[in-house]
Amino acid sequence: MSADFQNWTSSCQARIETLLESRLPAADCVPERLHKAMRYSVLGGGKRVRPLLSFAAGELALADTDRVMVVAAAVELIHAYSLVHDDLPCMDDDILRRGKPTCHIEFDEATALLTGDSLQTLAFELLAEKCLADEPGTQLEMIAQLAVAAGSRGMAGGQAFDLDSVGKTLSLPELEFMHIHKTGALIRAAVMLGARCNNRLNNNQLGKLDHFAKCVGLAFQVVDDLLDTEATTATLGKTAGKDAENNKPTYVSILGISQARELAEKLQHDAYQALDSFGEAALRLRQVTDFIIKRKF
Ligand code: IPE
Ligand code: IPE
Ligand code: MG
Ligand code: MG
Ligand code: MG
Repeated sequence: MSADFQNWTSSCQARIETLLESRLPAADCVPERLHKAMRYSVLGGGKRVRPLLSFAAGELALADTDRVMVVAAAVELIHAYSLVHDDLPCMDDDILRRGKPTCHIEFDEATALLTGDSLQTLAFELLAEKCLADEPGTQLEMIAQLAVAAGSRGMAGGQAFDLDSVGKTLSLPELEFMHIHKTGALIRAAVMLGARCNNRLNNNQLGKLDHFAKCVGLAFQVVDDLLDTEATTATLGKTAGKDAENNKPTYVSILGISQARELAEKLQHDAYQALDSFGEAALRLRQVTDFIIKRKF
């Protein structure tokens, strides 16, 4: 990672942390246990990859950074909610997340459920309260876009498919369907919402960006599957080997390690290709993609 990219990443991460910190209800605000759990699940951890993608797409569109920060925070709140629920005993039953006990272990299951619910609604509160696009109609579309990406036709639907697939061998198209929904949909929304904070990109350019985001979204989960097998619990901050333990079909269980790695690299190549016509303006998007593919955790 170049020093320039490292600095950019640290500065984006610090800014998003500050915004999230200021928008999450204080820990001493009633009901304290719920607010503590929300702050516990969002603050001080995570790579913030989705916000980085929103920032990079916002830079491509020359969007106002204050607007982009808000959409980045909203997407991260949805992501944090999805992790809290993903870790529940009725889903993946995990005890470690971001190097700490999962929300339901640190608090309790009911609190974890409500934490997820409240993070999700806070995300939409943020999106609805300030002007984030040049046209009000565009902002309404952005809100709907995130809602679809998070819901039964997006992330939540992908999670349902994931749970239904336990113990099964999926075909490659089925596995792709699952990953595109459970992880890809939100990553796609992160990119598109960042870019739509300004009306500078035309429909053709937005189409290219969307294709880029689809490739990156799928690549992200392919790498997540690889890391589950290849990395350690200490590096990941979550339990390694959990997919095999839970009998989940993954790119590693279906393709094996080396073909899954090749697929991630092919998707990186496709993602870069989709950005070709943007030239240097898409540098940050390429750098974030590279980070996603090469990450060790
Ligand atoms: C993990 O996401 C869950 C998936 C969608 C694969 P991240 O790897 O982005 O998790 P954090 O936010 O960095 O903890
Ligand atoms: C989770 O996928 C995707 C969502 C949270 C929507 P995983 O179950 O593979 O994520 P990790 O590995 O627990 O982070
Ligand atoms: Mg899961
Ligand atoms: Mg999981
Ligand atoms: Mg995983």
